[in-house]
Amino acid sequence: MDQFLGGTLTPLRREIVRLGVVTSTQAIAFEMAEQGAADGTVVVADTQTAGRGRRGRMWHDAPGDNLLISIVIRPRLNVADLPKLSLAAAVAVAEAIAFATGLQARLKWPNDVLVNGRKLAGILLESRIVAEPVVVVGIGVNLRQRTFPAELAETATSVDLEGGRTVECEELLEAVLVAFERWRRALEREGFAALRARWLSLADTIGRAVTVGEHAGVAVDLAEDGALVLRQEAGLQRVVAGEMTASFPR
Ligand code: BTN
Repeated sequence: MDQFLGGTLTPLRREIVRLGVVTSTQAIAFEMAEQGAADGTVVVADTQTAGRGRRGRMWHDAPGDNLLISIVIRPRLNVADLPKLSLAAAVAVAEAIAFATGLQARLKWPNDVLVNGRKLAGILLESRIVAEPVVVVGIGVNLRQRTFPAELAETATSVDLEGGRTVECEELLEAVLVAFERWRRALEREGFAALRARWLSLADTIGRAVTVGEHAGVAVDLAEDGALVLRQEAGLQRVVAGEMTASFPR
């Protein structure tokens, strides 16, 4: 694993809570955080009955065939910078997939992980600010799942379907956690520059004609605040949130 981290590993001390059937690992991670769970606590489940996706969608899984995790973060970041943790997670997941399966993973803004233009992993960042901010980063990776609901049939994929090296959940979990720890610490200690450069090097989005909400243009950059920068006839347009679609087939 040193290979993709470019350094010596020190064992990370973290609690990993392994569960069978849950509603959502996100819900459990927030409950645990409320009860004082330490920074870096991880919840892993075999299957979810109410898995949460971005923008209020459901996240489907095939029991036992997906990596489903939530990580409790007690961030050392300004509130405005918290969304960058989802970019850190996206980079970490792409690196871990490449390392563990040999597949070339790419990133679709802000944090979908694609292989051959189809979504293989999704990331959901949720935060609650009571006395101190708590962030839960949820990650779902399709490993052995071979069929998807009809509405996802054209856009979703898995390690198996893409012909990646077979990887056990535990192995991929470890790779994701190590890579995420590295990018999270880089963001907290050194700022966004290295993470931004790495995200751009993995981006599938840059150079494409895209639509995000009411904004259309060619994606040209990732701004200092994590916004996507579009080039339009009238000039540059920053987009901070929304669902992105490429305006031509992949
Ligand atoms: C997306 O819509 O792309 C984000 C999907 C995030 C799914 C993961 S699976 C583990 C964790 N628990 C959830 O309920 N959601 C996230």
